[in-house]
Amino acid sequence: MNSILRAFGYLKPYWWLQIPALICALGVTVANLAFPWITKKLIDEVFLPSASPQQSLQSLRFCLTAFSLALLTSGVLTVLRQLLFTYVGERATADIRSDVFRHLQNLSLSYFGQEKTGRLMSTFTNDVGAMQGLYTSTLVDLITNSLQVVVTLVVLFRIEPGLAAISWPIVPLFAVSIVVFGRPLRHAGRHVQERAAAISEGLQEAISGMREVKSFTQEALQIRRFVSLFLSMIPVRLKQATLGAVSGETSSIAAWGGVMLVMWWGGQKVIAGQMKPGVLVAFTSYLGGLFGPTAWFVSLNSLLQSAMAGADRVFQLLDTVPQVQDAPNARELPPIAGDVHLHHVSFDYGDGKDALTDVTVRARPGEMVALVGPSGAGKTTLAHLICRFYDPREGRVTVDGIDVREVTQHSLRRQIGVVFQETFLFGTSIRENIRFGRPDATDAEVEAAAKAANAHGFICNLPEGYETQVGERGIKLSGGQRQRIAIARAILRDPRILILDEATSSLDSESEAAIQDALERLMVGRTSFVVAHRLSTVLRADRIVVLEGGRVAEIGTHAELLARNGAYRRLYDAQFGGAAVGRLVDGQVDGPTEQIVGR
Ligand SMILES: Nc1ncnc2c1ncn2[C@@H]1O[C@H](COP(=O)(O)OP(=O)(O)OP(=O)(O)O)[C@@H](O)[C@H]1O
Ligand SMILES: [Mg+2]
Repeated sequence: MNSILRAFGYLKPYWWLQIPALICALGVTVANLAFPWITKKLIDEVFLPSASPQQSLQSLRFCLTAFSLALLTSGVLTVLRQLLFTYVGERATADIRSDVFRHLQNLSLSYFGQEKTGRLMSTFTNDVGAMQGLYTSTLVDLITNSLQVVVTLVVLFRIEPGLAAISWPIVPLFAVSIVVFGRPLRHAGRHVQERAAAISEGLQEAISGMREVKSFTQEALQIRRFVSLFLSMIPVRLKQATLGAVSGETSSIAAWGGVMLVMWWGGQKVIAGQMKPGVLVAFTSYLGGLFGPTAWFVSLNSLLQSAMAGADRVFQLLDTVPQVQDAPNARELPPIAGDVHLHHVSFDYGDGKDALTDVTVRARPGEMVALVGPSGAGKTTLAHLICRFYDPREGRVTVDGIDVREVTQHSLRRQIGVVFQETFLFGTSIRENIRFGRPDATDAEVEAAAKAANAHGFICNLPEGYETQVGERGIKLSGGQRQRIAIARAILRDPRILILDEATSSLDSESEAAIQDALERLMVGRTSFVVAHRLSTVLRADRIVVLEGGRVAEIGTHAELLARNGAYRRLYDAQFGGAAVGRLVDGQVDGPTEQIVGR
C-alpha cells in the first residue's frame, strides 16, 4: 500500500488540473442522475392518460429538452474530463519514467552486470504501464463514484423508502466479491507481469544475439523456445481473465438479483395501484446507476493490485543504492597532471573470487603503461578501477595523490578518455558518435579528431560521409573502423588520462597501422594505460605490467622482461614462438598484426 501512496505522489504537481477534472466529472454524474428522473416524468406525466393532451404535449417537450441538455452536458464534459485525465496521466507517467531513467544513469556498472537489459526495459514499459491506470482517473473517480453512490441512495430513499430499505443491501454484496477475489487477482496480476517481463527480457537477448543464433544455426531452437514462451502467457492470462470475469459476474448477479427483488415488490405495488409505474422504472434505473460505481469499486481492486505490483518494482529500482557513489563531501578533481597510482588494490566482483589481488601499479604524468596477461587476468578490471566504475575492496586508487573516492565521479571521468575493448556506437550518425566525446565540439573539431584518429579517410569514402548512420551497434562498420571512431571520440575529449582496452580481434595490417598511428598521436603528453594485445603497442610502453590471475607477476620494459625469462617471456613465447624472440631482441618486429596475447 505504501507504494500506491508513493505512486500517487507523482500526481502532486498536477493537483490543480484535478480540480477542473473533478468539476467535469461531477457535472457528468449530475447529468447522469437526471436521466431516470426524466424517464419517470415521461412515463407518469406524458404516457399515462392523467392529464390533458395539451399538458402531456408540453411535458413531452420539456422532457425531451431536458434529455437533450443532459445528454449534451454529459457528452461535452466527458470529453473534457478525458482530455484532462489523459494529460495528467501521461505527465505523471513521463515523470516516473524520467525518474527511473535518471536513476539508471546514476547506478553503478555492477548493477547493469546483474540486471538483464530486457528486465530493465520491462520496468519502463510494463511496470510503469501498470501504474498508469492509477493516474488516469482513479482519484477523481473515487470521489465521483462515492458521491454518486451516496446521492443515489438518498434519492432512492426519498422516492420509495420501503423499497430502498430492502434494496440497498445489494451494494455491500459487491464487497463480498472484493474480499473473495482480491488476493487471487493480485497473484494473477503479478504472474502476468512477471511473464511479460520474461518475454521482453528474452526477446531483447534473442534479437541482440541474432548473429550468434544464425552462425550456430539455432533458429529452429529459438523459434521453439519463444513460441513456448509466448504460449506460456496464455494460462496466466486465462487465470487472470477468469478471476476478473467471475468476480465481475458475481457482482453483476448480485446486482440483478437485487433489481429482480425490487421488481417483485414494486411490481406488486404498481399492480395494486399503490405506486406509479414511472416511479418504479426510475427507482430501478437509479438502482442500476449504482452498478457502474460499484463495478468500478470492484475493478479498482484489481487495478490497485496490478498497479501495486508495478509500483513495487519501479520503486525497488528507484531505491537501489548505487554501489559507487560520490562521497557526501566529494569535491571536484582539479585539472590534473595525470599521476595515476594503484596502491595494493584488491577487488572482487562480489562473487568472492578475487579479480585483482594486491596490485600496485603507477603511471607518472605522460607515461604509457601496457597491461598484458592472459585472458581473465584482470586487465579490463584494472582499467575499470581507474575510471572508478567499481571501488576496490582493499587499497586505493589515487590520481595526482588524491584518492578517487574523495572526488566526484564526473570530475574524475571528465579527465579520462576511454576506448573500450568492445566498441559501442549509438544508432545515429558518425558525426554524433564522435561528438559524444564532447557535445559542444564544432564540426571542424569533430573532423580534426577523426583525422587524428585516422578515420577521416574512410568516413569521407562513405556515401554520406559524417552523416552516415551507423546501426544499433555500428554493425555496418568493420571492427577497425569502429575502433577508430571510438578513438576519435576519446581524442575529442582531450583527456589527461587515456585508457585503451585494445580489441583482441586481429585487424588487417592496414587498419592496424592506421590505429597504431592514431594512438601514437593520441598518447602524446597523456598518461596512458593500454591493455595491449599487440606487440607493436607493447614495444612503445614505458613500462609493461604483466598480470596473471589478478596479481602483478612482473613489471618492466620489454627488453628487461624478456631478459628476466619469467611470466612475460612465457606469454611471449606462447604467442610467437622462439623464432620471434631473436627478431625482437634485434629490435626487428615482424608485421604489426602480431599479437602478444590473444584469444
Ligand atoms: N562484471 C563482472 N562480474 C563478475 N566477474 C567479472 C566481471 N567482469 C570480469 N569478471 C571476472 O574478473 C576476472 C578478470 O576479468 P577481466 O575482464 O578484467 O579480464 P581481462 O584481463 O580483461 O581479460 P581479456 O583479455 O579476456 O579481456 C575474470 O575472472 C572474469 O571472469
Ligand atoms: Mg578485457
